Amino acid sequence: MSQDFSVRRVTAPDIRKRKGGPPIVALTAYHAHTARIIDPHVDFLLVGDSLGMVMHGYETTVPVPLDLMIMHAQAVVRGSTRALVVVDMPFGSYEESPAVAFRNAARVMKETGCGAVKIEGGVHMAETVRYLSERGIPVMSHIGLTPQAVNTIGTFQPRGRYRSEWAPYEEDAKAIAEAGAFAVVLEALAELLAARITKQIDIPTIGIGASAECDGQILVLEDMLGLSPRVPKFVKEYAKIGAGIEAAVKGFAADVRTRAFPSAEYTYPMFDEPAAVTKKTKMTGS
Ligand code: KIV
Repeated sequence: MSQDFSVRRVTAPDIRKRKGGPPIVALTAYHAHTARIIDPHVDFLLVGDSLGMVMHGYETTVPVPLDLMIMHAQAVVRGSTRALVVVDMPFGSYEESPAVAFRNAARVMKETGCGAVKIEGGVHMAETVRYLSERGIPVMSHIGLTPQAVNTIGTFQPRGRYRSEWAPYEEDAKAIAEAGAFAVVLEALAELLAARITKQIDIPTIGIGASAECDGQILVLEDMLGLSPRVPKFVKEYAKIGAGIEAAVKGFAADVRTRAFPSAEYTYPMFDEPAAVTKKTKMTGS
């Protein structure tokens, strides 16, 4: 793992202090090259378990193994120098008990060099948030729509669109803030509810499909670049890279089929033999 000591990385306490301040900017990153491009422009990079769908073609985040998270997180840490790197704990790696969560989260911290982990869940994960935070592992929580629970919640629909549904989400936010989370992702929550939670707790809220009132915003990079085949309503596509890649591939295929590629500028021409070598070759006849 290479480290540039001239640049100080953003830390979890830095993010914690940003409550109510200038909005926190975050994007997901799964590999070194994109991490390098994003790093100067964001406060934190999330190695999200959405990499299961984006990079590996799974239908949900449920199958993602811990080893895969670690491998992608290592690449993102190597590709970045200043943003905080937060790594998602995948389904099955932390729910069983605080001790299991600690063992796996400590492995993530040691083997990747990241600065924090993220876990899904509110009230029922508060004890784990406290256990990790008190033992040197900064925790970002994730409440609202929690994709790892898709098999029990049934759908990826937004939450809290009826006021009668608000109370559990507000309790979740208060519980994890009180337990020591340094920030919390609010995913796919009704706008008014997300704004209200942001006012109710003293840690930064990071919205995704939530509210402009949140203390920061995050998107999945590939979604906002127009690379993902289908995206939720809350994704603004800032580029259409998918269409650009297809046009480039079509151009390459056409050039190969007509032998237009590789033309002379993309091949290695022969050098003239150096005089000494020519002489020796002649003498030995080899
Ligand atoms: O895995 C992920 O990309 C996430 C974001 C949706 C916040 O958790």
